[in-house]
Amino acid sequence: MNENTPSGPIAAASRLPEMPAFEPGSVWLVGAGPGDPGLLSLLAFHALGQADDIVYDALVGDGILALAGAGAVCHAAGKRGGKPSAKQADITEKLIELARAGRKVLRLKGGDPFIFGRGGEEALALAAAEVPFRLVPGITAAVAGLAYAGIPITDRRVNSAVTFITGHEAGGGPPEGLDWRALASGAPVLILYMALKHLAWMAERLISAGLDPDTAVVLISKATTADQHIVETHLAAAAADAEAAKLEAPAIVAIGDVVGLRAALDPSATPEARARAALALSADGDRD
Ligand SMILES: C[S@@+](CC[C@H](N)C(=O)[O-])C[C@H]1O[C@@H](n2cnc3c(N)ncnc32)[C@H](O)[C@@H]1O
Repeated sequence: MNENTPSGPIAAASRLPEMPAFEPGSVWLVGAGPGDPGLLSLLAFHALGQADDIVYDALVGDGILALAGAGAVCHAAGKRGGKPSAKQADITEKLIELARAGRKVLRLKGGDPFIFGRGGEEALALAAAEVPFRLVPGITAAVAGLAYAGIPITDRRVNSAVTFITGHEAGGGPPEGLDWRALASGAPVLILYMALKHLAWMAERLISAGLDPDTAVVLISKATTADQHIVETHLAAAAADAEAAKLEAPAIVAIGDVVGLRAALDPSATPEARARAALALSADGDRD
């Protein structure tokens, strides 16, 4: 860009890369991110404007659906506003039916479609039915939620791995089959999705397997939305503190020392408090 390049949002829009055509009779399976419409990808934004039908999950907020084209038909496919949840088979059947009717079908899912989101199952059903599709990733709740809370999900001084865990198995129970000893000793940062219900059970497993009960924990409810609610605690107290704070789903739980970086990076802290914490943290470790 030079000084003669037009600026402003309209000029910037004219410089957008060319977007792929949303072909009639195809399905785009797209991640909408965890809530803030600003976290949509350009492909997701493009798809919203082009789609004839949008089949959306409960975690996709109204701020995102408001970006749909004027003629788009929106179909709720998740538990929202007390309505009963659609069955997975009915959702995939609807996607196939709409595509076969020649519609441009946007399947919009919260976060990333392939992180605990059944996106793989839906894509397989489309592939089996020979329906053309495109897969568009989204920003998953853990990555965005931690960033909005002021926590880098990795820091090379602290963790060389991140582990994503679901707290809710297909049948609704806790994740019984995990190797808790391996997680306690070899996974420096654990991220729990769908974990509020079984948090006490999971924390107890980790502590019994040797993880320090004082390990730092952050609980983030409704991350990246206006109702975001953050509770910092430690492993032994996490479930009780979640309950005391009346934390609501959806929420993610992060366990590990990266949580401590929030002291220096919390967007809601004063610049002075952040600077004090940043200086203390950099005195603790050499960045090179
Ligand atoms: C069925 S999983 C879907 C995850 C999604 N595919 C993703 O990549 O974020 C639902 C869980 O994601 C997490 N989640 C989704 N959106 C969230 C948000 N805005 N704030 C906190 N957690 C969220 C919660 O753990 C919730 O129970």
